[in-house]
Amino acid sequence: MQRHEVVVVGAGLAGQRAALAAIQAGRDVAVVSKLHPLRSHSGAAQGGINAALGKEDSVDTHIYDTVKGSDYLGDQDAIEFFCREAGPTVVEMEHFGTIFSRGDDGSLARRAFGGAGFPRTIYAADRTGLALLQGLWERLGTERFTLYEEWDLTDLVVRDGRVHGIIAFDRKGGDFEEIAAKSVVLATGPFGRVYGRTTNAHSCTGDGVAVAYAAGAYLKDMEFVQFHPTALLESGILITEGARGEGGILKNAAGERFMSRYAPHVLDLASRDVVSRAIVTEVAEGRGFDGPFGKYVHLELMHLGKEKVMSRLQEIVDYCRNFAGIDPVTEPIPVYPGQHYMMGGIGTDIRGATNIRGLFAAGEGACVSIHGANRLGGNSLLETLVFGKEAGIAAAAHAETAPKPEMHSADLDAVVAPLRAWSNRKDGEDPTALREEMQTTMDRYVGIYRNEADLLEGLKRIRAIKARFPNVHVVDQSHVYNLNLTDALEVGHMLELAETIVVGAYARTESRGAHARTDYPKRDDARWMRHTLAQKTPQGPSLSYSPVTYTRWEPKERVY
Ligand code: FUM
Repeated sequence: MQRHEVVVVGAGLAGQRAALAAIQAGRDVAVVSKLHPLRSHSGAAQGGINAALGKEDSVDTHIYDTVKGSDYLGDQDAIEFFCREAGPTVVEMEHFGTIFSRGDDGSLARRAFGGAGFPRTIYAADRTGLALLQGLWERLGTERFTLYEEWDLTDLVVRDGRVHGIIAFDRKGGDFEEIAAKSVVLATGPFGRVYGRTTNAHSCTGDGVAVAYAAGAYLKDMEFVQFHPTALLESGILITEGARGEGGILKNAAGERFMSRYAPHVLDLASRDVVSRAIVTEVAEGRGFDGPFGKYVHLELMHLGKEKVMSRLQEIVDYCRNFAGIDPVTEPIPVYPGQHYMMGGIGTDIRGATNIRGLFAAGEGACVSIHGANRLGGNSLLETLVFGKEAGIAAAAHAETAPKPEMHSADLDAVVAPLRAWSNRKDGEDPTALREEMQTTMDRYVGIYRNEADLLEGLKRIRAIKARFPNVHVVDQSHVYNLNLTDALEVGHMLELAETIVVGAYARTESRGAHARTDYPKRDDARWMRHTLAQKTPQGPSLSYSPVTYTRWEPKERVY
């Protein structure tokens, strides 16, 4: 058994920032990750990171935009803290070595993003996440810590409401291992792979969120799923909002700039929920294009000119050429919305604390909540760094005074015995088939527009798939790099999370932000201005609700 004071699970931006903060506080820290840190999904973020810098912008405008973007479901105390930390965070990352794009006068370049009252998205061309990840990884590399790389998280050990450590599968060693810890920070990222059409990497399976849920943590606002308007047709690869920030425009098959119907003031730069619904509506009403990979609209960049496209949007040029066989300098890009971000996650306070002592969470797998019902582009990279740091500081402080963790061999046996049975049985369910059925179900029944009949059907199907999961069969008998076992672990996690999304969406009989119910098309503040909390029971998620925190902004109708 390994022992550390603080264990951080996940090595993307939130995990690395948490680890750095805990190390700086003097704790013995381990980072556990199923990927090499530089392959984390944070590196897929393209368009930028928000911070109100310079005289023309203001932190208050950033706060207001975020509150409005959240459709008033974001907690305003948390949003205020978050936006105030933005400037220092960006400056710190630059000092860590991140190379941001610059304007002609040498100042940090900024671009317009959806739902923002000012162009405040700071960027490194269209690979901002990767630039931040590299800067932070280099900084973290100057510190002493232990890295457990290519380890899959399988469980948390929680007794008497307190965390004692984790259990993880060492892919290279081929064994399940215990790591005792006084504090655990879960920064394992999102679970977008519950959907088939998604901009999320294959690794985004919500392992930390699922094990926290199994251990008794509350999951918050799981029904709020963000669909990015411009995912590349067929592959679902993200085409950054920065493309529209640089002047790209959406057009339907009639050549109309259709966003003038839905957001007459800001057009293509309305918030993501609004633009995604507009595209789906255009296609549903027969104004989309049709092709072998489905229906779509066009994103045009041709008018921006080769020099601008090649200097600001180089990555997406490559994606379009390699994955769609088109050149966006001279041709329109075929796009349709794809799942992109989960507003919901492990419920935490501003310091990353959960309802389990010693358990902290940060990044996309956590829900503070600052995004409420809809996140603004550019606020996600910022969230990883601001709340990663807070969680690391809080985890270190907890570890300083917490009693020694107690791990028993029975903990490991209880977790491992059923997992070994997956390999020992002669036949059973194929984990990849279960995953595909789950994804098809979520795409079809729990998408951008929802209604009672679809959600009930979706729930019935997800529960039927979940009921088959205990009979999962790991065919591959290899000891080392058994990715068939990883597949099984991941789909088990995702099925639990998919169920919480559908149950939350079915219960919320209103439309707010990204949750659009055609049978309840209006926002209903009287009944639904509250967070959903899901807790695991043998019968499925049990829902309760908690109030939204206000400081200065009263709910208003949200128009763009
Ligand atoms: O469109 C994008 O570049 C995505 C940014 C974000 O999700 O914040």
